[in-house]
Amino acid sequence: MTQDSPQGAPLLQVENLGVRFAIKRGGLFGEKRYLYAVDDVSFSLKRGETLAIVGESGSGKTTTALAIARLVDAYTGRVRVAEQDVLGIEGEDLRQIRRKVQFIFQDPYSSLNPRQRAEDIVREPLQSLTETSSEDQQKIIDRLFASVGLRPEQKRLFPHQFSGGQRQRIGIARALATQPELIICDEPVSALDVAVQAQILNLLRDLQAEFGLTYLFISHDLGVVQHMCDSIAVMYMGRVVEYTDRRSLFNDPKHPYTTALLSAVPSIDKKRRAEMKRISIHGDPPDPLAPQKGCHFANRCPMATDTCQQSQPALTDKGNGHMVACHLVT
Ligand SMILES: Nc1ncnc2c1ncn2[C@@H]1O[C@H](COP(=O)(O)OP(=O)(O)OP(=O)(O)O)[C@@H](O)[C@H]1O
Ligand code: SF4
Ligand SMILES: [Mg+2]
Repeated sequence: MTQDSPQGAPLLQVENLGVRFAIKRGGLFGEKRYLYAVDDVSFSLKRGETLAIVGESGSGKTTTALAIARLVDAYTGRVRVAEQDVLGIEGEDLRQIRRKVQFIFQDPYSSLNPRQRAEDIVREPLQSLTETSSEDQQKIIDRLFASVGLRPEQKRLFPHQFSGGQRQRIGIARALATQPELIICDEPVSALDVAVQAQILNLLRDLQAEFGLTYLFISHDLGVVQHMCDSIAVMYMGRVVEYTDRRSLFNDPKHPYTTALLSAVPSIDKKRRAEMKRISIHGDPPDPLAPQKGCHFANRCPMATDTCQQSQPALTDKGNGHMVACHLVT
């Protein structure tokens, strides 16, 4: 594991981040309403480590990542990457952040330009975000192709001439090209077959060990991240409901929603899963445009009390930095 800066500041610090989308109401004078996609989200990530963000569809994982990379606007909060404030910067500073924060997307089919050859896809960020000479660009591309397990002759091929796993390798090479500080992997294996998933996860782990990479790894599946991360933030309806190191989350889950997610992970011991099943959840989250007053999870939580309906639990330290947002967890 590589070291943080001498001051020991984390590579990524997110504090009280908020992103909202304006939703128009019908009619000429319909008042503006907001969907709070990311609400008061805080976490940090050390250099060389992986933080997983886990949660079901619509919980705000991608929006959090896009706000960190300045691809959507946050309306409140603070984001620091390598000790530089990210929100509010413009011009060359913003270009540098684009170089420092790179994405690997879920769908290698749609995230690669079908009319570009593989080597030009990898070259593109070098051209637009760095001053690297064309000779050096070619050397970097050659090295990256080898690092991600693609053959030199494949550089001239187009995306449709690759398999899904190979396409994701091109996406990984493109993300590494500018030597970013932070790599955001947004569901990087969910579109792939199970056998190929394991290959890509292994590749990401090997590259991390070789180059000291820092990953923000987004997944709806705790099973995918269980061998892939140092810490985990579980999101539900835009908020972090549990945030701790990987071992504590898997061995001692505290939030009812986390326990329900874990009960669906097949690789977890059968007996433990059976215990967890007792609090499996049903139904859908409430309408994000009309969130409840109390805990957002209350309409699905088998343990909900009157207090839960009335007041929203804050994310608080329940011991040894294990952060949980639940009234019943002491
Ligand atoms: N551009 C947008 N305009 C309006 N609402 C949006 C926009 N982008 C996202 N949302 C809403 O914000 C919420 C969070 O969406 P987000 O895509 O971040 O969730 P997610 O956790 O990444 O989900 P998934 O697992 O499906 O990718 C959802 O309710 C979504 O509908
Ligand atoms: S605060 Fe109440 S409703 Fe929310 S997760 Fe805890 S017990 Fe369930
Ligand atoms: Mg998403």
